[in-house]
Amino acid sequence: MEVVIRPDAEDAGRTVAGIIHRAIFEGAKTLGLATGSSPLGVYADLVRRHRQEGLSFAGVDAFLLDEYVGLPPSHPQSYAQVIRRELVDHVDLDPARVHAPDGTASDPQQEARRFDRTLTAAGPVGLQILGIGVNGHIGFNEPGSSLASRTRLKTLTDDTRRDNARFFGGIEGVPRHVITQGLATIGAASHLVLIATGPHKAHAVAAAVEGPVSAQCPAAILQLHPHATVVVDELAAARLEQKPYYHDIARHKPAAQGY
Ligand code: GLP
Repeated sequence: MEVVIRPDAEDAGRTVAGIIHRAIFEGAKTLGLATGSSPLGVYADLVRRHRQEGLSFAGVDAFLLDEYVGLPPSHPQSYAQVIRRELVDHVDLDPARVHAPDGTASDPQQEARRFDRTLTAAGPVGLQILGIGVNGHIGFNEPGSSLASRTRLKTLTDDTRRDNARFFGGIEGVPRHVITQGLATIGAASHLVLIATGPHKAHAVAAAVEGPVSAQCPAAILQLHPHATVVVDELAAARLEQKPYYHDIARHKPAAQGY
């Protein structure tokens, strides 16, 4: 795993956008997209690169990590809508190639299996963007999720519903159930790139990067992955014990591997 520490959130976002730009330039045809506030700077910089540097998403398929059960794709807080608003509407990514679980499906379990099959058939995902919850979740894989899980129906913890209440004008509006890619589904991507910024993420980042691999911190599956990159700002890096070493690696990185 590589840990890249940037001075601030904006710089971290630009760094992840640069990694994605390079992956597409080198031929990645399938992207895994995350929602939440963490990747917003990434998407803003991808839009800038599309407009100013010729970055093209033509021919790229995109798969979302998760979706709220009960929200139609037209709902402003459905993840399908968020990704359209933040990225798809501003670049040449074909909306028909953006795949999300259908939160309104009458049988969410069956919809989860359908989505997993579609993703597996199109995969592997070349690069998967990830955020991290304050409790260490990725996608909506709450602590306790099986490390071997596939896309399925999950129940959110009250902590996560409280965290996301800001998007719904209060916790009452936050759905209780979601469809999320499982940890094994996520782990099948060729490259995992996690972005975390701000002091409230410091504990989860330390657990994911330096803690034991355990279902209690789902993001720790990055330690088992052959190609994982964690991009954090100084605030989110605050509790990393090996921080001086991560800085040292960046200082002495061979130019060909730079960001
Ligand atoms: C959300 C999403 C995750 C996201 C995480 C952190 O609930 N399901 O994909 O990474 O929680 O959100 P944020 O980036 O807003 O802190």
